[in-house]
Amino acid sequence: MIIKSADFVTSAVRPEQYPETRLPEIAFAGRSNVGKSSLINTLLNRKRLVKTSSTPGRTQLINFFIINKAFYCVDLPGYGYARVPASVRKKWGPMIEHYLKERTSLQAVTLIMDIRRTPRAEELNFIDWLHLYRIPIIPVLTKADKLSKTRQNKQAQLIASALETDREQLTLFSAKTRQGKDRLWDLVEKQVSRVE
Ligand code: GTP
Ligand code: MG
Repeated sequence: MIIKSADFVTSAVRPEQYPETRLPEIAFAGRSNVGKSSLINTLLNRKRLVKTSSTPGRTQLINFFIINKAFYCVDLPGYGYARVPASVRKKWGPMIEHYLKERTSLQAVTLIMDIRRTPRAEELNFIDWLHLYRIPIIPVLTKADKLSKTRQNKQAQLIASALETDREQLTLFSAKTRQGKDRLWDLVEKQVSRVE
């Protein structure tokens, strides 16, 4: 996809703060510090459109971006990190659940996981929510550059079994090497052009 424009629109906590839109929307979710913001920047060819940080829990609001004036990308705050203050963690559940439930323009959630970690309860619970609200999932394994090709494949197999899905469903990605970027764009484009 050719990115002609990518602009920050607004940050929100509650539904009444979401931008009003009839445009399709893709959200990006995953554990704190997994690399959500970096992945969005890589996809959009922007170095600093979305703030990234080595401190987990940097993104605490729902951030909306508009791409080519045609669809929205949403950076969701990460879940499950012990070092994130309890007050922040407590707000996460209701904030995300409202978003998934109320955002009718949401076409799919890109679920970002670290290729080095086996999915745990947080991922599995989140996937249950997505199924409950009938939201398609694009599963991505990021930080692939941290592993050799052989280990990437081994981990992808392991994670696929943990998620009870096929290895082919998983997109291996790296914000550092841009591995997987084209494949992920294809998947995102399919979802934003889906007619309901
Ligand atoms: P929160 O907003 O805090 O939930 O984090 P996030 O998921 O948005 O992660 P962010 O993109 O801020 O990245 C966290 C850290 O991981 C940063 O230090 C990034 O440079 C690093 N990182 C992200 N993606 C990759 C990747 O593909 N490869 C490598 N090697 N490092 C990455
Ligand atoms: Mg972030």
